[in-house]
Order: sequence, then C-alpha cells, then structure tokens
Amino acid sequence: MPTVRELEALARARLDPARWDFLAGGAGDEITVRANEDAYVHSRLVPRVLRGVEKRELGASLLGCRASMPVLIAPTAFHRLFHPDGERATARAAAAADTVMIVSMASTIAVAEVVAAARAAAAPGVEPSLWFQLYPQPDRRVTEALVRRAEDAGCRALVVTVDSPVSGGRERDVRPGLRDLPAGMWCENMRDLLPGEEPDVRRIELSAALTWADIAWLRGITSLPVVLKGILHPADAELAVRSEVDAIVVSNHGGRRLDTAPATLEALPGIVDAVGGAIPVLVDGGVRRGTDVVKALALGAAAVCVGRPVVWGLTVAGERGVTEVLETLRAETDRALALCGAATPAHLRADQVRCGPGVRRWHRS
Ligand code: FNR
Repeated sequence: MPTVRELEALARARLDPARWDFLAGGAGDEITVRANEDAYVHSRLVPRVLRGVEKRELGASLLGCRASMPVLIAPTAFHRLFHPDGERATARAAAAADTVMIVSMASTIAVAEVVAAARAAAAPGVEPSLWFQLYPQPDRRVTEALVRRAEDAGCRALVVTVDSPVSGGRERDVRPGLRDLPAGMWCENMRDLLPGEEPDVRRIELSAALTWADIAWLRGITSLPVVLKGILHPADAELAVRSEVDAIVVSNHGGRRLDTAPATLEALPGIVDAVGGAIPVLVDGGVRRGTDVVKALALGAAAVCVGRPVVWGLTVAGERGVTEVLETLRAETDRALALCGAATPAHLRADQVRCGPGVRRWHRS
C-alpha cells in the first residue's frame, strides 16, 4: 500500500497548477499550514513496554455513530475537481472502511446522492455515518433549508464551521485558474435555495455576523448532534461546552483561515483540559501518518479528521485511492498503538508525547 506522502506526489503530478494550489495552499505565508505538519514532526512518541497488546481495538463510538477507527474524513469542497466521481467516490470509500465522512456544504454532488452512494457501499444492515458541514448563511431561512436537506438525506450530525467570519486570503488562489468551478460543476447543496441562476461558488456566503446566539438557534431547529469545527482557544472550548454542543473539532482549517494561528497539535492539550471530558474533542490538520494519529489520541483527542490526504487519494484513483489512504492510516495507527504499548486508544497517556522544547531535551539526553 502506498504511503500518504507517495499519494501526495502522485496527485501533484496529475493536477494542473490551479487545482494543486487550491488543494495545497493556505492563508498568507502558509505558516500555519507548515506548523500543523511540523508539530507532528517535532514531537516524539515514548513507548511503554510489556503491556500485552496482542488484542487491539481501534473502533470508536462518536455521537452515536460507530467508526471502525479514530480517523474520520474532514469536509473538503469540490471533489469533482479531483475525480469525475467526486464525493460519491469518497463516500463509498468511507462507508467501506466503516468510518465517518463529513460532507462539505460545498460538495459538487448533492448531499442526498452522497449518502445514497455511501449506503450502497456499506455492509448489509449498517447505516453509514455521514455528517454535514455547514457554513451558516446570513439568511437563516437558507441555513434552515440546508439543515433540512442534510436531515432528509440521512446525515447524522451537523458540523458547523465557526472559523470563517471572512475568507482566509489564500494568495495562491488569487492567481487565475479557479475563481469559478469548471462548466457543469455546481455547489449542488445550494440548488434552488435562492432565486437565480445555477448555484455557483459565490452562492455560499460566509457570515461575519455569527455569534453564540446563532449556535443556540441552530440547536433549537434540529435534533441532530451539533459539532463546532474551528476551535483553537480554551475559552471558546468552555463556551462550546456551556452552549451544550455535542463535540468540537480543534482546527485551523488546514491553515487556510488565520495565518500564524497555532498548530492544532499544540492547541489540543489546553482545549482537552478546558473541556474536562464533557464532550468529545476531535482534531484535524497535518495528520499524515499513524504515528500522528496516535500522538493526537494520546493528547486526548477522541479522533482525528484528515483533509488533504483524502483528496490526494481521490485524485490518484477515485474510490480506491481514498480507500488506500484510509487503510494505510488504519494499519499505521494499529502498528503505532501496539508499539506504544496500548491495546486501545484509551490506554495511551499524554506523557507518551514529548512536544516542543521537550523534544530538544530528549535529543540531548
Ligand atoms: C478544506 N476545509 C474545509 N473545511 C470546511 O469546514 N468546509 C469546507 O468546505 C472545506 N473545504 C476545504 C477544501 C480544501 C481543498 C482543504 C484543503 C480544506 C478544511 C478541512 O476541513 C480541514 O480542516 C483541513 O483540511 C485539515 O487539514 P489537513 O488534513 O488538510 O492538513
């Protein structure tokens, strides 16, 4: 099975520069894009030994959904830019791997069709776990219509992206190439929600007016679990718990919003402390290896989400490529868990990760 990095190189070779830049790029000087990966590179896993790890279990239950491993698919936009099957391919791979796919509101296949593709690929009798990512729209009627679409399709949670009052200023995307989707590709979840033409990318608006009151409103209009994606400050994690949301994702949007925001691995321990076990804490950004997954789990994450790697796999080989990414991460996570002396993620301890300055001390001793 190819490594995630090998798939990245293959994807890069296949994509035109505009698509590659859209996928790889981040905000500003891309300091946070690099920081996410560097945080994993510059931390060390300390194994524990003699702990009887022959029977291992990676599975997790998250918001009432079973995931066969603590690796979920982060929401990423426009999968048809990368493979003609688009989000259908990603959903089939997620269902076959029995893990959660978070469907981007900016998907190029309507969410109902994405869920249908997952159902067709899931094991008999297993309801696949798809969650819907939402950018609340300035007009609450539009937001509510989107929520109903997700519910009617069979999505099992709402993931509200809260790190995007405005866009991040991705300078690579200012260059000509991807201001509009290619002919025939649309933001299908926005179809017929507003009067006018076909739903192009401008139809999705970011709302700078959002506050915690909008989260309370959203919780009031749906019985689905609500997850907040894009938390980096422990005080916001506390507010999320007080707002009675069901989970949070520690995320800097893969470095695509506020440049110089902290790496998510760095932010994670403070947020886990602040949440104090009240709700699951997920994390995304920079996860490329099973050892990265294990570091995040050891520091208290309930699961990780992967963004770009899934799209690399999708680009290279559609559904099969996404399967390769997921199964590679599964095998690597299982191996790293065993080598850390943990039969399950719950057996990992935060003292098994040495971060930042600790890494330097480790090297000298
Ligand atoms: C994203 N991300 C994202 N997030 C979101 O809430 N809605 C979206 O539509 C998108 N779209 C999107 C497109 C592309 C091309 C990328 C790379 C990212 C952010 C995504 O969910 C996640 O936070 C990061 O991708 C995680 O970092 P890694 O795994 O890509 O390093």
